[in-house]
Amino acid sequence: NRKTGQHILFYFDSASDLSYALSVSVKQSSLQVVQGDSVTLACSFLTSGSLTRLNVIWTLVPLSHPQNPKQVIAYDHGQVIEDPSLIGRVGFTGLPTRADIRLNDTRVSDAGTYCCMVNNPPDTPDPAIGELQLSILAPPSLPVCQWDGDIAVGGNVLLSCSVSEGSPPPEIHWAKMDPEEVSLPVNMEGGFGSTHISNVSSQTSGLYRCSASNELGTENCYVNLSVYTTPDAPSGVLQAVLLTLTMTLVLLVLLVLIMWLHHTGQDGRWREGGKEEEEEEEGYNEIRYTPSLMKLTFV
Ligand SMILES: *[C@@H]1O[C@H](CO)[C@@H](O)[C@H](O)[C@H]1NC(C)=O
Ligand SMILES: *[C@@H]1O[C@H](CO)[C@@H](O)[C@H](O)[C@H]1NC(C)=O
Ligand SMILES: *[C@@H]1O[C@H](CO)[C@@H](O)[C@H](O)[C@H]1NC(C)=O
Repeated sequence: NRKTGQHILFYFDSASDLSYALSVSVKQSSLQVVQGDSVTLACSFLTSGSLTRLNVIWTLVPLSHPQNPKQVIAYDHGQVIEDPSLIGRVGFTGLPTRADIRLNDTRVSDAGTYCCMVNNPPDTPDPAIGELQLSILAPPSLPVCQWDGDIAVGGNVLLSCSVSEGSPPPEIHWAKMDPEEVSLPVNMEGGFGSTHISNVSSQTSGLYRCSASNELGTENCYVNLSVYTTPDAPSGVLQAVLLTLTMTLVLLVLLVLIMWLHHTGQDGRWREGGKEEEEEEEGYNEIRYTPSLMKLTFV
């Protein structure tokens, strides 16, 4: 019935137990910061009494693990208690008149919903909770490109691309780069950005690019596909046969040539030697001329 406007009653009531309503306000209900930078989460409160029993608690529902809310930092009876995972990175900046905190060296895991709760007995909370969203921006990390499948003509190939970091989550694009840039449809199932190429042909060969991009940047990785053309069996055999035939022919010709040269060479030797060897090799002369002598005698 305080809120219905019974001012006199309210006045007496407040005066009698010396309690006022304590209200909390946050300057911005959503904040963005680039990973690694510092950020101040502002939270102010209005109270009437002394600040000897002031109590401030900041909590976080992390975006990455909403089921694991945590107490970021607390101020109670003049003592500051930080979450063990945040020691050295978080601190109050305006106590005891403000409940602001500063977060240094921000990480993607710091993103989420922050609440600041202020209590200053005997003031009554009205409401004494301020809420704000913190987003952490991070550029994409270098994506990893992979291919799988059969790169023989007629086969199917799957190109996949994965990126481990980046906030907001990077978008994945696949494109064939040559002869001109052509975008390919991307399937985001299973956390990979994959694109499927069926019935590959020689035109499928070439350079493929995966881009991972968000507000803070773009990173690329590449796959160079070379589709095999399996040689046609008949022409291959024919070639081999032709080659063998040619080589055989050449060998035969050589053999014939050698034999012919050898033969004519011996003939020449016999004929030439006829005169020279008459004087030097008398033994041969006798044998050589014997048949002709014999022939002569027969004729
Ligand atoms: C955050 O960084 C500022 C400036 O470098 C420093 O003054 C402050 O002490 C740091 N806060 C914490 C909690 O380490
Ligand atoms: C594969 O591609 C070839 C030529 O590009 C075509 O003749 C054939 O029909 C295709 N096969 C299938 C299963 O699509
Ligand atoms: C892709 O591979 C082919 C054949 O292996 C090669 O000739 C070409 O230079 C490569 N392209 C790039 C961009 O690496």
